[in-house]
Amino acid sequence: MIEVRHLTRIFRTYKKKPGFWGGVTGLFHREFEETAAAKDISFDIAEGEFVGFLGPNGAGKTTTLKMLSGLIYPTSGTARVAGFDPTKRENAYRRIFALVLGQKNQLWWDLPAIESFNLLRAIYGLPADQFKASLDELVKLLDVEKKLNVMVRELSLGERMKMELIAALIHRPRVLFLDEPTIGLDVVSQRAVRQFLRDYNRRYKVTILLTSHYMADIKELCERVIVIHKGVKIYDGALAQLENAGGARKKIITFEPALAAADSPQGNAFPETWKSGFGTTTRADDGKFTVCVPGENVVSVSQEILSAGPVADITIEDVPLEDVIAELFTSQK
Ligand SMILES: Nc1ncnc2c1ncn2[C@@H]1O[C@H](COP(=O)(O)OP(=O)(O)O)[C@@H](O)[C@H]1O
Ligand SMILES: [Mg+2]
Repeated sequence: MIEVRHLTRIFRTYKKKPGFWGGVTGLFHREFEETAAAKDISFDIAEGEFVGFLGPNGAGKTTTLKMLSGLIYPTSGTARVAGFDPTKRENAYRRIFALVLGQKNQLWWDLPAIESFNLLRAIYGLPADQFKASLDELVKLLDVEKKLNVMVRELSLGERMKMELIAALIHRPRVLFLDEPTIGLDVVSQRAVRQFLRDYNRRYKVTILLTSHYMADIKELCERVIVIHKGVKIYDGALAQLENAGGARKKIITFEPALAAADSPQGNAFPETWKSGFGTTTRADDGKFTVCVPGENVVSVSQEILSAGPVADITIEDVPLEDVIAELFTSQK
């Protein structure tokens, strides 16, 4: 459904030298700074896949989604979405994809959402019955029946995002690009949007490429993730495998008393991280100690900790996906 080949986008920004003379010489010798927001990115996404697109701020995610949507042109490389070349901006292409930018509103601020939907119906030339069927279904799934006639600017952030999703899906696109759709939403709205996206993807086999800062979104929705860093693709594969790359490692978290008995090099003045007899040990501000150990050692290390002294509490957790990915980034230079 989506074929991306060597997609590259270089931004050139004019670099002004400081001071008056810098400005004057700049008139004659313009110096540019080049940023490769996307560098030689290639991937394929099959119909119906729900793929997570990850990377730190400035990695090039939004730039890539904008290229796939035909909003900006690549410097080189090609993309095909459902057989269309997005750079041609054909009307037929507009009808089969949608882009949702969490940081940007596409609905009319001073109108009730229903008015924007009616306008979209006219723009896409949707038959009345098809429009009504889609609208009724989306409104019901997202539970916003009572909010359709409220001015968009008076809606909560969560309600607004639900309306944005309806606007994006009203013409029943086959491909959906979602850029941070849950950013800033409260936990309840995040969960509602997430659940909706999962159901919708399953029901209609819509192909979805999603970026999100919230690992919960990615974990619950995407089996496959593509990770980019400084414009370069550094991982493309199963999310489960990426999680395992963090080692079949587990974290053991205990409260202070247990590890006070551990062999800190500075006695009771614990450094932030040190190599204790249990493994690499970290002390958090709240007085908790964390030991990161390979999965197969969890039982033996917990036993050692428990027998080292009185323990207020002990928990065993997986290394969070955030940490695994952060390590992936720091290992790349
Ligand atoms: N219009 C632009 N002009 C110049 N540089 C840009 C422009 N848009 C994005 N960039 C740069 O490209 C890089 C990637 O940005 P972006 O795609 O927004 O990253 P992400 O969405 O992953 O946070 C950043 O370094 C950003 O500053
Ligand atoms: Mg972005």
